[in-house]
Amino acid sequence: MRKKKNRIVVGMFWGDEGKAKLVDFLTKYADVVVRYQGGANAGHSVEVDGRRFVLHQVPTGILHPDKICVLGAGMVIDLPKLVEELQSLEDSGIDWRNRVRISPRAHIVLPYHKVIESIMEEQEKIGTTKRGIGPAYRDRAGRIGLRVGDLLLGKNHIIKLLDRWLDIAGKLYERAFDAEFQSPSDVASVLESSADFLDRAIIDSTKFLDDTARNSGGVLAEGAQGTMLSLNWGTYPFVTSSETTAGGAAEGIGIDLRLFDEIIGIAKAFCTRVGNGPFPTEGDENLQKLLRGTGEHSYDEFGSTTGRPRRCGWLDGVVLEYSTRINGIDAIALTKLDILSKIRPLKVATKYNNFSAIPSTAEEMSIAEPIYEEFSGWDDDISKIREYDKLPDGAKEYISAVEKISKKPVKYIGVGPSRDDLIVKE
Ligand code: GDP
Ligand code: IMO
Ligand code: MG
Repeated sequence: MRKKKNRIVVGMFWGDEGKAKLVDFLTKYADVVVRYQGGANAGHSVEVDGRRFVLHQVPTGILHPDKICVLGAGMVIDLPKLVEELQSLEDSGIDWRNRVRISPRAHIVLPYHKVIESIMEEQEKIGTTKRGIGPAYRDRAGRIGLRVGDLLLGKNHIIKLLDRWLDIAGKLYERAFDAEFQSPSDVASVLESSADFLDRAIIDSTKFLDDTARNSGGVLAEGAQGTMLSLNWGTYPFVTSSETTAGGAAEGIGIDLRLFDEIIGIAKAFCTRVGNGPFPTEGDENLQKLLRGTGEHSYDEFGSTTGRPRRCGWLDGVVLEYSTRINGIDAIALTKLDILSKIRPLKVATKYNNFSAIPSTAEEMSIAEPIYEEFSGWDDDISKIREYDKLPDGAKEYISAVEKISKKPVKYIGVGPSRDDLIVKE
């Protein structure tokens, strides 16, 4: 009998729902935290004792001593950036050595991918994070990618693969767009030195993860981005290039998916989106300013990775219901409820006037007309409250609305950016 639960944490909207804060909280009940998709496009922030940490590729569990952190096979990893991130954690006094494991099956984001992405963004603006994510996943699907495990086979092997890449993919871009690519031997040198720094961290952990999940439990899978940015289930083509839903966890970790006991959906108390693409409940300028904040607080709605202002709007209940279903959510964490204090009345979209469900194309989604239900809201500052019963009635009413739409319990309520700013609702 397993002592601890195996859990998946997944974003229910367009990313930045506050996943990191919940992962940080749940890490107490886990032994291993594993990222299963995405790469340096993610920006996961937590505040601990007044210090703010923003993690991009390293699982958030690293902030707790002794927990093992795995970068799973479903990720696309920017190695020099990973080295930078680990170095900066080390400089902050966080010991990562012997705790980080990187799947040899994870793909490598090459400098070429970023060149290609900037060319593509000139043609069709998705508003990506410019971290080379789309091109790296395209090469993975095209079977010409480099994987982390290739680094262990030596520099000549890497150069051979890079030469092959330039021959197959590079030539097309050179001919069509005059792209200039760094020489394979220069790229190989950087990759080789990154691999040296990572030392014994590159190691297949699939068996270890399976054994842990099966025997003791305590595997916590940390999703990046959110359901509406899923390659398959999001607002295509305004999406990221990986499977961000709970379904992506089994693919990106490599263990029996039946070993997961609980799937926790992270929903912000209002919706945000960064980058282009449809956003039915996007607010007018006034509402956006209220929800976004001015930038004076660390938690105001400006991208953790790119610094871009996030688009903001009312909570979209149609997306909430869809996301609950697509992911098989068991319980919800409703974050940033503190931000809604004093915004009265509050609105939640409960249906679209012109569609009975989430439409499958971005064209249709961009003309969806939300129908709102109003809630009276509340005036009190709730950021110091730690017990559900002490919340104002207006806040409880709002939480009940989320439960009614999703038909799932709200188990956690975020009332601030710090590790402890959380209400656990029994
Ligand atoms: P993630 O990508 O889902 O991990 O979320 P981000 O870290 O990109 O964005 C969430 C932002 O909200 C960060 O600035 C967090 O510090 C902050 N945050 C998370 N939960 C809460 C909350 O309950 N209240 C407030 N005020 N801020 C929060
Ligand atoms: P976390 O894990 C919010 C968005 C980009 C763009 C689209 C495609 O912090 O929630 P990409 O660079 O992935 O090809 O960009 O996806 N995006 C995110 N938005 N949070 C993220 O991660 C995101 N990662 C990518 O803005 O619209
Ligand atoms: Mg983020």
